Amino acid sequence: MNCQSSEELQQLVDQAKSYTKKGKVADYIPALQLADADKLSVAVYYPDGTCASAGDIHENFTLQSISKVLVLALVLMDRGEADVFSRVGKEPTGDPFNSIAKLETNKPSKPLNPMINAGALAVTHRIVGGTVHERLERLLAFVRQLADNDDIYYNEEIARSEYETADLNRSLCFFLRQHNVIDEDIEQLIDLYTKQCAIEMNCRDLARIGCVLALDGRDPKTNEQLLPARVARICKTFMVTCGMYNASGAFAIKVGIPAKSGVAGGIMGALPHQFGIGVCGPALDEKGNSIAGMKLLEMMSEKYGLSMF
Ligand code: DON
Repeated sequence: MNCQSSEELQQLVDQAKSYTKKGKVADYIPALQLADADKLSVAVYYPDGTCASAGDIHENFTLQSISKVLVLALVLMDRGEADVFSRVGKEPTGDPFNSIAKLETNKPSKPLNPMINAGALAVTHRIVGGTVHERLERLLAFVRQLADNDDIYYNEEIARSEYETADLNRSLCFFLRQHNVIDEDIEQLIDLYTKQCAIEMNCRDLARIGCVLALDGRDPKTNEQLLPARVARICKTFMVTCGMYNASGAFAIKVGIPAKSGVAGGIMGALPHQFGIGVCGPALDEKGNSIAGMKLLEMMSEKYGLSMF
């Protein structure tokens, strides 16, 4: 049942918008600094194919860490759970997304989960294909199918900007290779990972992908199973436990919707069997999550009783 209209969503966006002033756009990837910190948009995509939306919904943004969920789904489908979980764990870290600390203290030295950068790099390493181009095209084809939008591509300027400044991620890769979690050329893996993170879309596209996850992998239009229910379940579970990094516990209590954030300000939500949500607000809090986006989701959850817990 639809519980939100675009008009109601617009009122919530208007209220949440003041929170954009309390955050800052990401600047460690230089090209992301160009984003407009005042923007806020939301779309809710329902299983019947209707979509309510409000705010700056035609703005494109890059997925950044939200791509980690989609790559995880693709690699689980291609390689299976045994392969993936021989390289990454299933537990939250309580650390920032780019931390290297637990790679050293955790034994054996594998990343604790696929949502932190170290774990995501290990999963991206397993995308099937002979070249970066082939692997990226495979991923793009999957994302286009989930979003039902053949125009989705990656932002070359943002990918290049991250590639040129990704030394922390390179250091994670060197660590992973030393410990036999990955075994590929590191520049090649960083090239693929930065392009994956720069995949660009708008809130409606993101909400549709969230809707497919909410429907246990089923396409809302065609009913086709785009990913196995088990894979959708694993993705949603990681979204609950690690999707908002070291703010995941507080977010689960306040909002109660499986969600994944990215440093460009996007948040994808997937409320099981109800709908998908796409939010974008580039101003971030100190943990790298959209500050107004989180507030907006909190307000929606309270107003419509959305928590799944
Ligand atoms: O690897 C990075 O640092 C970025 N491409 C993605 C990080 C990110 O989105 C963290 N999310 N909040």
